[in-house]
Amino acid sequence: MPINKFAYICSPVCIVMKIKDLKFKKYIKEASILEKIAELAEQINKDYKGKDPIFLPILNGSFLFAADLMREIKIPCRVSFVKIASYEGTSSTGTLKTLIGMQESIFNKDLIIIEDIIDTGTTIEQVVNEMKERGAKTVEVVSLLRKEKAKEKNIIPKYLCFDIPDAFVLGYGLDYDGYGRNLRDIYQVAE
Ligand code: IMP
Repeated sequence: MPINKFAYICSPVCIVMKIKDLKFKKYIKEASILEKIAELAEQINKDYKGKDPIFLPILNGSFLFAADLMREIKIPCRVSFVKIASYEGTSSTGTLKTLIGMQESIFNKDLIIIEDIIDTGTTIEQVVNEMKERGAKTVEVVSLLRKEKAKEKNIIPKYLCFDIPDAFVLGYGLDYDGYGRNLRDIYQVAE
């Protein structure tokens, strides 16, 4: 681990981590995340009993969340990892996002999109719309985090672990410039 990129610079009680130019403080512990995931999974197990859902974790950020969530899902289901590709729109539409890596036919299927974080909500709105256009029967979202901005815009994932302020976070799958995805807890940028 390069010492200039990662360093623990505080006491074990209040661990502050430096990654590149930013300092991060521990924000949500792994134990709290796993507890919340178990609650959500129990609800999903009830809601989708007798159905045949397909879970669509969006890479890269949701890989740990998806792994822990899927181990708590007890109903028959399938999992198909997808990735977002961004490209520029032709006019005023700005950057458009589309899913790549879809192997399954989703026509007439019950889909559950697994997202790491909803920030502005643009990504999840576009993905949900794309899934509906492709003929999915139902499309719901399970998200680890939702930032204040998305909450104010009334973007409501059916299943949500935590509402958080608009500050940048990393860990548990989320990255800063590619680093930090492997951390067990979630860290928030320090003031
Ligand atoms: P949105 O389209 O603005 O909702 O952005 C969603 C995507 O932005 C997420 O899937 C993440 O990849 C990324 N993102 C947004 N906020 C953060 C953050 O605080 N930390 C790490 N990634 C983030």
